[in-house]
Amino acid sequence: MRGGKFLQTLAGARFPTPPVWLMRQAGRYLPEYRALRAATKSFLDLCYTPDKAVEVTLQPIRRFGFDAAIIFSDILVVPDALGQKVWFEEGEGPKLAAITDPAQFGQLSRARVPEHLAPVYEAIRRTRAALPQDTALLGFAGAPFTLACYMIEGGASRDFAKVKSWAYRHPDSFGLLIDLLVEAVVDHLAYQIDAGADAVQLFDTWAGLLPEEQLFGWSVEPMVRIAHGLRARHPKAPIIAFPRLVGPAALMYRRPDAFSALSIDTGIGAHWAARELQPQICLQGNLDPIMLLVGGPALEREARRILDKLGHGSLVFNLGHGVLPQTPPEHVTELLDIVRNWTPSAA
Ligand code: CP3
Repeated sequence: MRGGKFLQTLAGARFPTPPVWLMRQAGRYLPEYRALRAATKSFLDLCYTPDKAVEVTLQPIRRFGFDAAIIFSDILVVPDALGQKVWFEEGEGPKLAAITDPAQFGQLSRARVPEHLAPVYEAIRRTRAALPQDTALLGFAGAPFTLACYMIEGGASRDFAKVKSWAYRHPDSFGLLIDLLVEAVVDHLAYQIDAGADAVQLFDTWAGLLPEEQLFGWSVEPMVRIAHGLRARHPKAPIIAFPRLVGPAALMYRRPDAFSALSIDTGIGAHWAARELQPQICLQGNLDPIMLLVGGPALEREARRILDKLGHGSLVFNLGHGVLPQTPPEHVTELLDIVRNWTPSAA
């Protein structure tokens, strides 16, 4: 069956061991990625050249045989498609021509999305054709708040004070940006599914910066609107929500009407999650990426602990955040052996 164990798990099926993939499973920790990256002018060229994006997406699948591939792209292709200038500086991460005034919203247009992001959809079409049938293909997008963080801040930031100040001082104009992003993200996700993505993940990397009430308005609610908007176009498409660093406020995202699974970061206790979240919604997570970097007995102990707490319920095994560039690829092989050979303790 197309999408295999991963899609069946999202649909509620259970297997002796959970399906597994890793956020940032394609990337700098793989020598074959670094080689292809070195032969490509810019990171965005890599994202917008379908042959290269397909190759980089398939690299970790060939090496490790994960249950799901995630299309090689970036969350910042959406602001780029809307008309904001986006570039990546070596060693510094993403840069954007920061939006400093609501008057600039008028220059952003979601009408450009299908044409500008056509290479992403082409890469999805080709990747789907190249993947084994039982390997699922994930599309993805950034959630509106996280996109707004980069769009207003102009890049990474320690506290994202500019975007938060704007949201708190001028909620009406901030809401206009969020609304535009909700619509653009629904389009982008729907086109990815049209092109062959089997499921999609919404990354709200910076959701945890918001206090609870703001979190509802600027993260939960826009993500739920996206899910409902996407469901209207693709009723069966599974959607995974990843609200990072939200702690017990993860309860607000326990919304089976919107999401098929909730991706939890390392800060959420597996025991708590098994009791409070997993009875209602499939979970994905939540191994500390540093455990994968460390490997050996520490990795084995922690992976087993997560499996013992969450492996009895509906689970997609993953990290709590992305693979770090310094991670030895052999540690991924170790992890897969642990997950695939796990046997539940009798308790
Ligand atoms: O394998 C995969 O997970 C698919 C590809 C993927 C990338 N970025 C490739 C990438 C995905 C799903 C993303 C999501 C993404 N991008 C997020 C959300 C997830 C998260 O990590 O919190 C965010 C916030 C971004 C924005 C972004 N892109 C940043 C902050 C950076 C710089 C930091 C870094 O890791 O270098 C990027 C660049 C980027 N995106 C790289 C990769 C492989 C490294 C660029 C390079 O190779 O030069």
